[in-house]
Amino acid sequence: MSTENEKLKERADAVFIGNYSRNPVALVKGEGCRLFDADGREYLDFLSGIAVCALGHCHPAVTEAIGRQAKELVHVSNLFYTGPQTELAELLVANSFADKVFFANSGAEANEAAIKLARIASGQGRYEVISLEGSFHGRTLAAVAATGQIKFHQGFEPMPEGFSHAPFGDLNVLDNLITDSTCAIMCEPIQGESGVRPLAVEYLQGLRKLCQEHGLLLIFDEVQTGMGRTGTLFAYEQLAVTPDIMTTAKALGNGMPIGAMLTTKDIAAALVPGSHASTFGGNPVTSAAAVATMKVMLEDGFFAGVRDRGIYFRDELQKLVPQFPKLLREVRGLGMIWALVLTEEGVKLGPELVNKMLEKGYLINFAGNVALRFVPPLIVTTEEIDRLVAALTQVFAE
Ligand SMILES: Cc1ncc(COP(=O)(O)O)c(C=O)c1O
Repeated sequence: MSTENEKLKERADAVFIGNYSRNPVALVKGEGCRLFDADGREYLDFLSGIAVCALGHCHPAVTEAIGRQAKELVHVSNLFYTGPQTELAELLVANSFADKVFFANSGAEANEAAIKLARIASGQGRYEVISLEGSFHGRTLAAVAATGQIKFHQGFEPMPEGFSHAPFGDLNVLDNLITDSTCAIMCEPIQGESGVRPLAVEYLQGLRKLCQEHGLLLIFDEVQTGMGRTGTLFAYEQLAVTPDIMTTAKALGNGMPIGAMLTTKDIAAALVPGSHASTFGGNPVTSAAAVATMKVMLEDGFFAGVRDRGIYFRDELQKLVPQFPKLLREVRGLGMIWALVLTEEGVKLGPELVNKMLEKGYLINFAGNVALRFVPPLIVTTEEIDRLVAALTQVFAE
């Protein structure tokens, strides 16, 4: 007799292109940090739909906003003004360096918009974007070309022109890559997909300086680090470095698909009517969800709570490192994005460790082939963190 999980897996495997390697679990319900599968099994979610459901699953304020807006107006295109997207843009502008916003539907699309804006704002002949090795900027062709990991390019060549990659954290080599064609430097303040690799503050400040010296635009991809993940609304706030263009997506709509590109009014002026667009971008329902999400995040004490529980989480993970030196090398991260970096021996066991945790009812993932990554909902409690750490301890001991 097949279980409900197995039945859905069989139907799905028959009809889907095989570009995902999915866990054999069909999820049917979520509440806070908990998820339930088709056979009624409960899981504690330390993945949040890959750093998306920051307020937890089905947060009442977001669910209410989606329902309310879905009854009023679902979609009209960007040929008209709507209230929810305007309110969302106002919130983003009021709470960041930016004056102007463009809405897309995903992180990759927000990055496409950023790359296009950097090119058009820099003028003829200046089109090259320098990004970093180990980066991840999305799967569309320009975003994947900006992504500094060959494995994502392979089989899809030729990559679009105008992208080069500098070694992680090396300012001198990057300086040498700048040419008359360069228009921008693009990076994630913390590389999420390649195993939670934070760039040093001095390095990011060095990038800002190089951009000033060479008249380049600094693009921060905060698709993963944005919307509270690092304990402030955006990671750049903690770095004393302000980008010229910033993208965000993942947690913006707490699970509704929306991305945004933010910039200053002077740079934004380069995108004139007809130059860039998105049919769905900033759709009223996704925007209403994002407004509700941001309002919860901006409540007094929300980010302070994330930072406090983040430190607790870090300290608890840290205790595991000396206990399991054969498997664990170090803890990396900030706010509520943490990684247990594995040793060479640990890396070989990475996928198995994730599977063992799943069997115990915990969702985590293996990032960049180097680390176990934890990106729980930002509302995760210390008690839930304790449960995860106890389960990790058991799995490592086994
Ligand atoms: C830093 C960063 N940029 C861009 C993307 C792509 O976002 P999306 O999958 O929404 O296109 C991701 C996704 O993991 C990301 O982590």
